[in-house]
Amino acid sequence: KRVAVLISGRGSNLQALLDAEQNAYEIALVISNVPNAGGLDRARAANIEALELDHKPFGKDREAFERDLNTLLTARTIEIVALAGFMRVLTPYFVRAWAGRLVNIHPSLLPKFPGINTHARALEAGDIEHGCTVHLVVEEVDSGEVLGQARMSIEPSDTAETLATRVLGLEHDLYPRCLAALASRMP
Ligand code: GRF
Repeated sequence: KRVAVLISGRGSNLQALLDAEQNAYEIALVISNVPNAGGLDRARAANIEALELDHKPFGKDREAFERDLNTLLTARTIEIVALAGFMRVLTPYFVRAWAGRLVNIHPSLLPKFPGINTHARALEAGDIEHGCTVHLVVEEVDSGEVLGQARMSIEPSDTAETLATRVLGLEHDLYPRCLAALASRMP
């Protein structure tokens, strides 16, 4: 399956998806809504087309941004869109267009802690367990069918920073496995 990865930043999950690429999926395109995002260099180093689509010129018109995004994706016959640190909320227009073929990774054990600052919130809640989730994207943010989760214990010495580091390691293992499984089960 031909996959486009959407990023906004350093792209360590993109790197994990690239490194683990197998028969089930092929990263065919990387798009960043943030110009000069570090992940674009990772894509180019792997000889993958890497595009910038800055959302700023579109102002408040999210759909106009997404229509251009969609045009880029369909022109390259993309079959799955994987969000990897993509920091834009997508509108129902885009989510419906890609229903069942749009995945995200989130640094918490959903349904716990949707949104931001997940590691600090897990600590504040006194949780003894934390982790990450790969899920299908639906209109409500950080919801949708869970494709996989990875969990770990929270130790008394943990800070938001140490949790972020360990969860990221779990993400890099989980995301390629879930993407491959989704690609394999698609017709
Ligand atoms: C990851 O923690 C991911 O779960 C979250 O944003 C971060 C992206 O990191 N949605 P990277 O750009 O993949 O390194």
